[in-house]
Amino acid sequence: MQITVNGSTHQLDVDEDMPLLWALRDELNMTGTKFGCGKGLCGACTIHLDGQAVRSCLTPVGAAVGKSITTIEGLSKDGKHPLQKAWIEHGVPQCGYCQCGQIMSAAALLARNASPSDTEIDNAMSGNLCRCGTYPRIKIAIKSAAS
Ligand code: FES
Repeated sequence: MQITVNGSTHQLDVDEDMPLLWALRDELNMTGTKFGCGKGLCGACTIHLDGQAVRSCLTPVGAAVGKSITTIEGLSKDGKHPLQKAWIEHGVPQCGYCQCGQIMSAAALLARNASPSDTEIDNAMSGNLCRCGTYPRIKIAIKSAAS
């Protein structure tokens, strides 16, 4: 099958039921997208499918055929995304493991709502867990990138 990731097409010889997360990491060597729970609970594996933030651990690779996949690597294709700059400016990450998924969820939010309210940020980010508790800095960085 053929999938399009960050604007490039890739041929894959895998089962269509393989989670997109594994296709990205193991077949395409794109390791920015992280495995956390594998059950749709943590958000570490968040990518964009046709602009929507989705869990790549729960998305069969076959469901991504004909759609546009964006990963954290694609977000910085043309220079750092404003969110990535804000993440650096505000020193958001602690261990860093969940942060690619956090940024992908935040990027989908800002793409559909350039100036989200606190409640809208909370709602959009509620599915992305962070064991280090960086939530306050994540929120500050999103608001900074949005303004
Ligand atoms: Fe996909 Fe946790 S690894 S939601």
